Amino acid sequence: MLDGMSNTPRILLDCDPGHDDAMAIVAAARYAELVGITTVSGNAPLERTTYNARVMRDLLGIDVPVHSGSSRPLLSEPHFGALVHGDSGLDGADLPAPTTALDGTDAVTFIIDTCRSLDDVWLVPVGPLTNIALALRSAPDIAARIAGISLMGGGTFGNRTSTGEFNIWADPEAAAVVFGYGGRLVMAGLDVTHQFQATPERIARIAALPGTFAAVFADLFEFFSGNYLARHDPGSLQGAAVHDPLAVLVLTHPHLFERAHYHVAIETRGEFTRGMTVIDRRRITDRAAPNCDVLTRVDHDAAFDLLIDAVDHFSH
Ligand code: BDR
Ligand code: CA
Repeated sequence: MLDGMSNTPRILLDCDPGHDDAMAIVAAARYAELVGITTVSGNAPLERTTYNARVMRDLLGIDVPVHSGSSRPLLSEPHFGALVHGDSGLDGADLPAPTTALDGTDAVTFIIDTCRSLDDVWLVPVGPLTNIALALRSAPDIAARIAGISLMGGGTFGNRTSTGEFNIWADPEAAAVVFGYGGRLVMAGLDVTHQFQATPERIARIAALPGTFAAVFADLFEFFSGNYLARHDPGSLQGAAVHDPLAVLVLTHPHLFERAHYHVAIETRGEFTRGMTVIDRRRITDRAAPNCDVLTRVDHDAAFDLLIDAVDHFSH
């Protein structure tokens, strides 16, 4: 326990860095017991998301294994997020090349072994769900061993399509496996992550922190927010939605969130709705049993303070 209101969960972070993935790594390194980082194709090709995860590990100076995983979704063609994150996945800052070696190219095996050898692991996927689905499919026993899955994805609206949020839309078949796995599931979808924005005032607070690490993050946020503002109607957002750290912070600081229990299914076939999270909010009694804690609100000021404190902690 860090204080009376927070937990120190054991987290394995599966990610596709990605500006907000980088912030999720920072939040997990600061507030959780981070037992590993696995990478997946998503915001950029796998080689690049893996490189970026290694860059972040070195910048943080943490001793956490990084294993690369799937280079393509289960069935879909790979699609990347260059419009939001740039071709590198982490455009906007002058990043040092990583100096520590990749620990393996076996993310799925690493996930399975970690879940079997450690108790109460939370899987925290913040990219397409390919690695997690493959692990659950190859080793169904881990479903009952883990504490749960806290993911960033989905929502009542989309961003890559009108109904599809990027992480679910990029690999809907994998998402269907994860949403059907039968254990504890927490979903930080766009409804909550769009409440959590990198406003100019918040970026200025990061830029004012001492140290090169904070300066790197201020540059990353400037790029990320600039892209969001350029791609949205004027006045509709004050900055980038900083999605991924919320899947971490809901575990470390649950009191900052409101949630509702719903059944969520994944649309894998719709012509216009492939990759949609179909959230059953009916109040009739014969609906399907809830399988998911859907986050509905975040105390965004308090949560952003935690991110800024985490950047400050690692900045030197
Ligand atoms: C998700 O897609 C990526 O752009 C972000 O890293 C986040 O995980 C938001 O839709
Ligand atoms: Ca991501």
